[in-house]
Amino acid sequence: MSTLFNNIGCLFTNSQGDSPVLLAARSAENFLGEICDAAIVVEDGKVAWVGEAKNAPAADVQIDLAGQTVIPGFVDSHAHLMFAGDRAEEFSARMQGQAYSAGGIKTTVAATREASDAQLESNLARLVAEMHASGITTFETKSGYGLDVETESRSLAIAAKQTSETTFLGAHVVPQEFKDVAKFGSVEAGADAYVDLVKNAMLTAATPHAKWIDVFCDRGAFNVDQAREILQAGISAGLAPRIHANQLENIGAIQLAVELDCASADHCTHLTNQDIDALAHSNTVATLLPGAEFSTRSRYPDARKLIDAGVTVALATDCNPGSSYTSSMTFCIALAVREMHMSPAEALWSATMGGAKALRRKDIGHLSIGARADFAVINAPSYIHLAYRPGVNLISETYIAGRAVTK
Ligand code: NIG
Ligand code: FE
Repeated sequence: MSTLFNNIGCLFTNSQGDSPVLLAARSAENFLGEICDAAIVVEDGKVAWVGEAKNAPAADVQIDLAGQTVIPGFVDSHAHLMFAGDRAEEFSARMQGQAYSAGGIKTTVAATREASDAQLESNLARLVAEMHASGITTFETKSGYGLDVETESRSLAIAAKQTSETTFLGAHVVPQEFKDVAKFGSVEAGADAYVDLVKNAMLTAATPHAKWIDVFCDRGAFNVDQAREILQAGISAGLAPRIHANQLENIGAIQLAVELDCASADHCTHLTNQDIDALAHSNTVATLLPGAEFSTRSRYPDARKLIDAGVTVALATDCNPGSSYTSSMTFCIALAVREMHMSPAEALWSATMGGAKALRRKDIGHLSIGARADFAVINAPSYIHLAYRPGVNLISETYIAGRAVTK
């Protein structure tokens, strides 16, 4: 069955934007692939035809989009949705002057270990519904709040029912029970024992449910040598690497990301010129997560410098209960434009095509013929309104493989 989505005010296909880097894409004329007075035909969940409405072929069913704007669905390439509980008190204390540290994660770990599968499932379903309402059509989610073999593996098994983009993040932080100096002899020995567990029993239990492996490589979490060991073990087990890099401090994670051909290096808040140069000459996407800087009141990454150097930049929500409890990609776009000086067009590209590149996916992030028919309808005359009208949900409908998912 074919469906004609007709009477689109302006449609953005990203179909000129398949160049490897945003810089090259930007220099192409009309890099967002804008078509006004447009239409799309969807067949078998894929884009079968796209162009000006006046040339549209007949279809079995017609949907009138009443002059609204259509963009590719957002691709959220970085989220932590497998958890229980919240940390509202920690947020409140932080807003009153307390510093953010990786240590807060342990509160969520305790709640997640306690939670039943049904509780984890319903929390995930709630967040996925929020994501759909904000125009997200593909999301990645990490484990990382279990930090024991059983909770990491059941978190991933539950996540895998909702997305193919599942990431094993056993190496989020060293859990409390491995910080017992009386038992392990020293802090370092406890951390070594935990790295060993992650690389062996935990990885074995996680692998059937995961596509990716990630490490939080930062101050207070794992150093570069530990991250290398863990990512290499994951690669040997058939997982593909991505990395949390330099959110709190530059400990050299970008060089490791490039060395291991990570699909993406995420956060990128603290970078040297050499880091930027290494990213620009690699296949590694820099994924920026401005929700985290907003919620931890930290300095934003230098998006301009990255883009101008030719680095491929993605935008993602980092939705998690500690440092960025938002599932709204449109809010992240507004932050990217206002706080990171990205143009609205760059922010839109990074939240769609950039995310697809960070997940090494070719079938999403754009609306060329053959792409999965994932798109969001914006009830506004232009996508610029996503940043121009912050905090207002302008997404009137989200379609995944041509099917409406919010109503
Ligand atoms: O991406 N950086 C590490 N992990 C999360 C924060 C997790 C937490 O505070 O619970 C992040 O920001
Ligand atoms: Fe994260």
